[in-house]
Amino acid sequence: MRTTVGIIGGGPAGLLLARLLHRTGIDCVVLESRTRAYVEQRQRAGMLEQGTVDALRECGAADRLETEGLVHHGIELRFDRERHRIDFPVLTGGRTVTIYAQTEIVKDLVALQLTDGPPLLFEAEALAVENADEDRQSGPPAVRFVHEGREQVLTCDYVVGCDGFHGIARDAFPAAVSRTYTHDYPYSWLGILADVPPSCEELIYARGPGGFALHSMRSTSVSRLYLQVPNGTDTDDWPDDRIWDELDARFAIDGDWRLERGPITAKSVTPMRSHVHEPMRHGRLFLAGDAAHIVPPTGAKGLNLAVSDVRVLARGFAELHLTGSTRLLDAYSRLCLDRVWQATRFSYDMTTMLHERPDGDTFEDRLQLTRLRRITASRPAAAELAANYTGLPLAAAVHAPSRTGATDRPSR
Ligand code: APR
Ligand code: PHB
Repeated sequence: MRTTVGIIGGGPAGLLLARLLHRTGIDCVVLESRTRAYVEQRQRAGMLEQGTVDALRECGAADRLETEGLVHHGIELRFDRERHRIDFPVLTGGRTVTIYAQTEIVKDLVALQLTDGPPLLFEAEALAVENADEDRQSGPPAVRFVHEGREQVLTCDYVVGCDGFHGIARDAFPAAVSRTYTHDYPYSWLGILADVPPSCEELIYARGPGGFALHSMRSTSVSRLYLQVPNGTDTDDWPDDRIWDELDARFAIDGDWRLERGPITAKSVTPMRSHVHEPMRHGRLFLAGDAAHIVPPTGAKGLNLAVSDVRVLARGFAELHLTGSTRLLDAYSRLCLDRVWQATRFSYDMTTMLHERPDGDTFEDRLQLTRLRRITASRPAAAELAANYTGLPLAAAVHAPSRTGATDRPSR
């Protein structure tokens, strides 16, 4: 097989990149190791920044999002039995966010790609990326993969690893040029789906007795909730009543508010990790999304970071296709990493501020509560949280017109 851009991974990053490239007339192929059913049911994120909504609109994948997505104008913070609303439009000059499950985004993009898009191969597992070095002494970049029981080769001009944290594209980066930064948190999230209408209009982030809890939703009839649990927690130790009782305790406030209960239809435990791989490009191989970075879900940045990587990369390929300039492709890693580190810091801050330390470090816990108080008492502090939560703008360089044929080498 032969294509211009070989994409490994059919999650949100790979599927959106394929869609944006297709719209620009750049041919590509997506190799996804799992089945269509698996990728469409994998419960993950659900909060979309405006930039993510814009990208899905730009590639014609936002029809259902427009009708079923829930636009939110703020979130609620709870601690010490108090409730404090963070008003996004007031604090950010009009920005909002949208709740729409990542599973639905994947379904929408898969459906579009299968009817009117570049090849999307399911159960096609990439084994290795070859010849991605710029010098290309030994031939064009290639992805070796197995599909329908046969080992095959996809030769390309470029390869993009959208294969998530457990993918193989990162392995093709020489150790000499790679740096990874990792932080593991001393707690996990127990997440549930429940067939019960949400007990709130907007998301509630609570730091209660015993730890963190989050009330999100998937629709007006399905709630999505999370609670902090120790690492290594087994869902078998958490029957439904225990989950609801613990959520009740952590969301409790002085005032009339009630958490509605209902049948829990899914339970899972997710460890919390921050991880960044630098650089995000080596020669003709790029990384995008979870293949390059992981953030704890407290700041709801994972999906949105994947989308912003892909928006920059798609514009870089479009610029090359239309003008011959590699300006944006050369700047890709630097532009994305600047944004990735901002989101990594924000996610770290949100996580440490809202979770109870299991080591009982009361000094640290008091500091975190003080940060929460500052945010709910100071407009600039609240505005900083709102600006990060609703999504920092893409770098100006992404929108700057390129000079034909120009190749501005990145500053680092
Ligand atoms: N060959 C082919 N496909 C692979 C391989 C491989 N060797 N390894 C992994 N994959 C596929 C996985 O099956 C998965 O479908 O790559 C895809 C990666 O998708 P995600 O893990 O969802 O990562 P990404 O697309 O970057 O999405 C980023 O969206 O999933 C949410 O919040 C989540 O932060 C995450 C964000
Ligand atoms: C979700 O709806 O799954 C969700 C929302 C916000 C978060 C994390 C998860 O910070």
